[in-house]
Amino acid sequence: MRYRNFGSESFNVSEIGLGTWQLGADWGNVEESTAQEVLETAVEYGINFFDTADVYGAGRSESLIKKYLKPLSDDIIIATKLGRFPEPGGLENFSLETFRSHTEASLNRLGLERLDLTQLHCIPTELMTSGEVFDWLRTLQKEGKIRRFGASVESMDEALICLEQEGLFSLQIIFNVFRQKAIETLFEKAKEKKVALIIRLPLASGLLSGKISTDRIFPENDHRNFNRDGQCFNVGETFSGLPFEKGVELSEKLKGLVPQEMTMTQMALRWILDFDAVTVVIPGGKNTQQVMENSLVSDITNLTETLHNKLSNFYKNDVKTNIRGKY
Ligand SMILES: NC(=O)c1ccc[n+]([C@@H]2O[C@H](COP(=O)([O-])OP(=O)(O)OC[C@H]3O[C@@H](n4cnc5c(N)ncnc54)[C@H](OP(=O)(O)O)[C@@H]3O)[C@@H](O)[C@H]2O)c1
Repeated sequence: MRYRNFGSESFNVSEIGLGTWQLGADWGNVEESTAQEVLETAVEYGINFFDTADVYGAGRSESLIKKYLKPLSDDIIIATKLGRFPEPGGLENFSLETFRSHTEASLNRLGLERLDLTQLHCIPTELMTSGEVFDWLRTLQKEGKIRRFGASVESMDEALICLEQEGLFSLQIIFNVFRQKAIETLFEKAKEKKVALIIRLPLASGLLSGKISTDRIFPENDHRNFNRDGQCFNVGETFSGLPFEKGVELSEKLKGLVPQEMTMTQMALRWILDFDAVTVVIPGGKNTQQVMENSLVSDITNLTETLHNKLSNFYKNDVKTNIRGKY
């Protein structure tokens, strides 16, 4: 595993991290014993960055992290989020008092005295623009409840709004072979400000593994079933905003570009790591095999310039116009 500077700090984070939404809810059932194996394997393979949120399984993801991850290592970063608990979008989620009580609840569930990093969890754009939410985060930082704060955002416009905020440590964005806009809109600016970039949906909800076919049936409690067309939250969070059948068709087409010596998953993750603006990628491994495969991508050499050009053209010519929702 290779490590990168954590934004403006010299602390080193593993370039492959672990997203843990699937340990909470919304990806079918993940048994507690599987969650334990996933977390143990991640540490074994050198991962030291874990992304969670208070709302993932109403605290289940955070609680499992406390139970199974914390005893394994102190030298880790646990990034959580707030702003969508108990229900996304409710105005009651947005006041200094609610931020304080939700932060204290996360601290309790994670067994911490201070959060390593807390992120606004895809909150309404107008709240990012008006900026008061950031004052509340700075207050919590002064109070010693959080060490760093950042924002998980849905669009590049939102990323640029947040980037102007004093003290913003990190941005979490959707970025993958199917969704390349950040290269031109965000990367240089984030680098200038030394803001850490945390990359979610690296596999476009699994499409970029190349193993999903149109006859795959997702369980009812999997967002790839219930949010396929954005029925419950931002459509971009599911299959990267692509209509499912189109996404499968594009992943089939992409297979022709995968170098012989790697899997499509590895190509997709390696492509992201080849951008030096990226701090950490957080694929949501659901079992030990996936966590191992994802971790090992850190040690693969960069993709060739020719392949980068082909993937850029593929995005521009075949993918871009099919993306739905905020972008
Ligand atoms: N708003 C937000 O802030 C937000 C939103 C979404 C996600 N996130 C964060 O990002 C993390 C990652 O989730 P994501 O939505 O970005 O999904 P993703 O990583 O693009 O896809 C995850 C899915 O891909 C499949 N997969 C993972 N590794 C694989 C491998 N090696 N081979 C084949 N398939 C593999 C698994 O699905 P199957 O095996 O079931 O097909 C897994 O559930 C989340 O856990 C969360 O921490 C944050």
